Amino acid sequence: MNAIAAPNLASAMVNRLLAIRPLWTIAKRRARKMMIDRAETIGVPWRETVIEMRSRGSDEGPAGELADEWQAELAAIANPHIRYPDYYQTSFHAYDEGNLGWLPAMEVEVAAKAVHARLWPEAGAQGDAMLRQSYHNALQPQLPVAPEKIVDLGCGVGMSTETLQERYPSAHLTGVDLSPYFLAVAQYRAQPRAQITWHHAPAEATGLPTADYDLVSACLMFHELPQSAAKAILREARRLLRPGGHMAIMDMNPQSEVYATMPPFVLALLKSTEPYLDEYFALDIAQAFQEAGFKAPTVIYNSARHRTILAEAR
Ligand SMILES: C[S@@+](CC[C@H](N)C(=O)[O-])C[C@H]1O[C@@H](n2cnc3c(N)ncnc32)[C@H](O)[C@@H]1O
Repeated sequence: MNAIAAPNLASAMVNRLLAIRPLWTIAKRRARKMMIDRAETIGVPWRETVIEMRSRGSDEGPAGELADEWQAELAAIANPHIRYPDYYQTSFHAYDEGNLGWLPAMEVEVAAKAVHARLWPEAGAQGDAMLRQSYHNALQPQLPVAPEKIVDLGCGVGMSTETLQERYPSAHLTGVDLSPYFLAVAQYRAQPRAQITWHHAPAEATGLPTADYDLVSACLMFHELPQSAAKAILREARRLLRPGGHMAIMDMNPQSEVYATMPPFVLALLKSTEPYLDEYFALDIAQAFQEAGFKAPTVIYNSARHRTILAEAR
């Protein structure tokens, strides 16, 4: 599969405009407002959900005050020896703190519902769940047997881990993420589900055992990565997999007509929230898979905007 063509004129113009800081700030704010409005229009109570999560449903103290348990759980889950890569310590999704804060962690789920609401006509708030199902509908028939040990790289607050667990209920799952805030929320959301281990580490160097896993999955993570990190993560996935194991990525499809025909203004909003989108769109992912020690990957288009890529470890 070929990488997408060089950015077109409109895209190059948008990049130049976004390099002007005040314009970037306006685009970023605008993108956030659009998301919150879209969520609330489809019945996802964005603000209420965040207030509820901050206080963990407690009526004590001012509304939305951060419950004490959060800081304790953050300290317990965070690996104090981690050195965050520079590319990760930047603004993502209109949050200045990127993924390293409570607000982004507590808004992930509502934001995902808003972003994926229009993927299928009439899907509304179910669009995100449908996207995740479409990933597994694409992936599962390609796997020779049900995986028993799975790593979910860039697991976020566990929405992708949860769907893996529903699909493979007897598997043991490890969710890896660089944001301890996201992992603390993942642990909170998943409390009744015992089969998941949450692991604070870079996906490039997880520290997990070699050749121990049947499936490594990365759902909606690769578009957040510069190319050097994407390649390093594929090498790490290969190390984690036993021979014959599979690596699967579900993410935006750079070849989608939706991006090719997107109005420059909307593209500007998208880019203001996704700093590595150009690098992701230009990556030859099939080649990167093969250089990392995988067989030629299979690509399945699982929504109008998303693709599933999977490959077997050589
Ligand atoms: C868009 S979120 C997707 C989360 C989740 N997989 C889902 O489907 O909802 C991308 C996640 O990748 C994580 N991430 C980005 N770069 C990473 C890296 N190098 N190592 C580990 N996690 C990373 C971010 O912290 C974030 O939680």
